[in-house]
Amino acid sequence: MRQYHLGRALAQAQPNIALVKYWGKRDIRRNLPETGSLSVTLEALWTRMEVELDPSLEADSLSVDGRDVPELLPRVSRCLDQVAGPDRPRARVASETNFPVGAGLASSAAAFAALVVAASRAAGKAHDALTLARLAGAQSGSAARSLFGGIVALDAGQDEIAVESLCAARDWALEVLVAITDRHAKPVGSSEAMRRCAETSPFYRYWVDRQSADLGAARRAVTLRDFASLAATAEHNCLKMHSLMWTSRPPIVYWNDATIGCMQAVRELAAGGCPVFFTIDAGPQVKAVTLPDETARVREALAAVPGVLEVLHSTLGGGARLLETA
Ligand code: PMV
Repeated sequence: MRQYHLGRALAQAQPNIALVKYWGKRDIRRNLPETGSLSVTLEALWTRMEVELDPSLEADSLSVDGRDVPELLPRVSRCLDQVAGPDRPRARVASETNFPVGAGLASSAAAFAALVVAASRAAGKAHDALTLARLAGAQSGSAARSLFGGIVALDAGQDEIAVESLCAARDWALEVLVAITDRHAKPVGSSEAMRRCAETSPFYRYWVDRQSADLGAARRAVTLRDFASLAATAEHNCLKMHSLMWTSRPPIVYWNDATIGCMQAVRELAAGGCPVFFTIDAGPQVKAVTLPDETARVREALAAVPGVLEVLHSTLGGGARLLETA
């Protein structure tokens, strides 16, 4: 009889926020991105995933914050098969998170990054960080970046992605404020939204063709620690991505009044000389990136926007890691 490594492991990962966005797939089956992307990994928001392999189980199970969520199970099971092999024992998977799930806060990135780390250890595998990033990316493109900390670049490559940290969290003290404007899950998931943009937005090809220029500009800004240049590239890239959504058929608009109010608040601060810029993902929350001396001012300005429910604050943090094994 075949012997399995039967283990339990707990891992933690934090969401990442893209400054040059991943939006579009080259290979839908393998979930390969059409272009590269660049992100910052957060510290204060986290997802913890516990994986326990148990041959006495008949099926995998998944709970999120203590609630069974069978609808998310197929993706989790697929990921476990890829990490531990398809003939693995069944698993009990439990996740816990300290921020709203499915609302454009990169919850799937943190979840799959933590899942691959925990599953790899529970199964007794010795995957390196890049292999784990590829395994996480096969489920959620942005999850590949949460394996690494600080400022992270993902290169789309020919056949496989490559991911690296360009700058550790301690080497550039960027701070991120997240204005929550709606806690509900988003109406259209990112894979469906990307497909619709690729098939129907007249600007999609232009977006793909310009990504390497934006990535080059952002990488240079990181190397030089040039905040103003990173700000200009990130805002432009974010607005281009949302233009694709607005020009899709039917259009996808994730923003609400408070989203626009936050963008205006950030623009006003920046016009007054404050180092701050915004970015927005597939949801209505606004992420403002700033420097430590300005955090209080930016937080206050966002909190004062009508419709803002809460403002979360984070420094940059490290990549996904094991917390416990047994
Ligand atoms: O990784 P996914 O499938 O959740 O897509 C992420 C898409 C954006 O968050 C909008 C952009 C990005 O690069 O993270």
